[in-house]
Amino acid sequence: MKVLVIGGGGREHAIVWALSRSARVSEIVCAPGNAGIAQVLLHNGSKSARCVPVNTADLAAMLRVVEAESPALTVVGPELPLSLGLVDELERLGLRVFGPTQAATRLESSKSFAKDFMQRHKIPTAAYGVCRCLEDLRRELPRFSASVVVKADGLAAGKGVVLCNSHAEAEKAAAEIFSGALLGTAEKELVLEEFLDGEELSFFALCDGKHAVSLAAAQDHKRIGEGDTGPNTGGMGAYTADGLMSADLEQWLLKNVAQRVVDEMAREGTPFHGILFCGMMMTPQPDGSIKPMVLEFNTRFGDPETEAILVRLESDILDLFDAAIDGTTDRLAIKMKPGASVCVIAASGGYPGKVVNGQPISGLDSVRNPDTVVFHAGTASKDGAVVTAGGRVLAVTAVSGQPSSSSTTPLEAALAKAYAALEKISFNGMQFRRDIAWRALRKGL
Ligand SMILES: Nc1ncnc2c1ncn2[C@@H]1O[C@H](COP(=O)(O)OP(=O)(O)O)[C@@H](O)[C@H]1O
Ligand SMILES: [Mg+2]
Repeated sequence: MKVLVIGGGGREHAIVWALSRSARVSEIVCAPGNAGIAQVLLHNGSKSARCVPVNTADLAAMLRVVEAESPALTVVGPELPLSLGLVDELERLGLRVFGPTQAATRLESSKSFAKDFMQRHKIPTAAYGVCRCLEDLRRELPRFSASVVVKADGLAAGKGVVLCNSHAEAEKAAAEIFSGALLGTAEKELVLEEFLDGEELSFFALCDGKHAVSLAAAQDHKRIGEGDTGPNTGGMGAYTADGLMSADLEQWLLKNVAQRVVDEMAREGTPFHGILFCGMMMTPQPDGSIKPMVLEFNTRFGDPETEAILVRLESDILDLFDAAIDGTTDRLAIKMKPGASVCVIAASGGYPGKVVNGQPISGLDSVRNPDTVVFHAGTASKDGAVVTAGGRVLAVTAVSGQPSSSSTTPLEAALAKAYAALEKISFNGMQFRRDIAWRALRKGL
């Protein structure tokens, strides 16, 4: 069958790569795709995926691509097309599509909707207030301690959250959100939230409108600098490892977060189909226990966590998409390779600030380890060469089972493979973090 994937980053490359391994997939189109996606060969090696240009902020343009290609299934990668209602439009046309509707996407596209939803349904999350102007904020602030978080309500590509050490800082951040100084466009609403201490964990559930099943847990690195310092980015790396999430924690997160979201979204008339990404903070309690609290939801695969998750997926990804659409995830047995995986992002010089595109990338062909996949996050083809096209350029991803040397953990082995591949690749200004997974390594994973 023919599958269309919407998007053009590392996440979409990983989705296309996983689809290419399915014996049931005979054709893959990706819009807009990128230079790496255009080189993905289908399972029998017969042909490669095809990329067609599209602006993923333009709903009508995406609908024209679907109409022209008439795929048997469309998979929507990024949040923007979901929030524009691409899934609703395709469902209205009677077409098969993987992803949540516009109303269900509000769990990600509106932080105030998500917080109110969590409060309504007793899903653990930080105390909060919704503010529509600075007076609202000043009225709310006295209820909060000095460490507070100010979050623009809408999609902000990771740039809408300000961690504050005082109420004065919170007022300044709020003023910048309302004026448009922070995001370029003025926001009408923000969420003020109590600061939570702890370690973060991303939990991914596959949801079919009725059931939530566990897909994986991952941790990512959002800061540009080693030791998790410096400005925020789209993500500089991620990893998964057996033992990152205990079986008890997995059951707890399913029952108290993911399944509750699915049940209550259905009850509210906006059933949730797709990937629910639960961004958790594991908060230490005075009695020594750890209480998981929801920081946010995403309503799609995360990037770069998806790269690290999908290299471990042994099941046919098409079975996952079908079950999520048809309401049959409860009958699905998702198989993952045991061990660990890591994804290290190679970014352009200057990222997350201004970058210079069009730098030729060398060494891509010299990565031949079968456990390593170089996903393209921001690349383009120019005169037959692959060049940089964006801040995050490559997502170098490796997987490992139990290595033969018992003194090495699967995570260490996966890291060694990813960094060995990075040694072979270069482009002008290339930067990457050398400490991906440091927290897990410290815990002996
Ligand atoms: N209440 C909070 N306490 C502590 N840190 C937070 C809190 N909310 C968000 N953060 C930090 O800010 C990051 C971004 O916030 P998040 O809610 O995930 O928004 P987004 O991903 O849309 O930028 C989180 O990954 C976390 O590191
Ligand atoms: Mg987040």
